[in-house]
Amino acid sequence: MAMADEKKTVTAGPVDDVSRREFFVKLGLGSLSIAAAGTTVFAYQFLSPNVLFEPSPIVNAGKPESYPVDSVTLDVNSGIYLIHAKEGFFALSAVCTHLGCLTAWKPELGIIACPCHGSKFSREGVKQEGPAPKPLPWLRTWVSDEGDLMVDRDTSIRPMEYVRV
Ligand code: FES
Repeated sequence: MAMADEKKTVTAGPVDDVSRREFFVKLGLGSLSIAAAGTTVFAYQFLSPNVLFEPSPIVNAGKPESYPVDSVTLDVNSGIYLIHAKEGFFALSAVCTHLGCLTAWKPELGIIACPCHGSKFSREGVKQEGPAPKPLPWLRTWVSDEGDLMVDRDTSIRPMEYVRV
């Protein structure tokens, strides 16, 4: 009889407490891990050098044969004119010396004109009118070992130094 009244009571309390505790410990560790990962990413970005990579000032203008005599070719990407005159090749900066606008060759007028404030230059870069304070600079130009015309946009030279090919 006593056996029939006997009830087994299973208390789940201690087991639940441990699980709850473990749950919160794991939750805390997870939060710390996420915060640590975020801090690591931020620190890496902060400590990485913030460098701007500028393109090389050296421009490969290609083969001289691709420029007919008496042609003026604007390379918009590099901001230079490659000019094949009867005397030889030369390169001019296409950037206006007033406030830095990109100029344009006007074949019908035979001049280089700035669209911003009206400065005008001869094909040799000499200022003819407008607010530009200086002529368009001639840029160092040479022929590479491979036979390509090369221009250094960062190095200006004296005018009338032609490259003969
Ligand atoms: S920027 Fe060329 S005239 Fe002003």
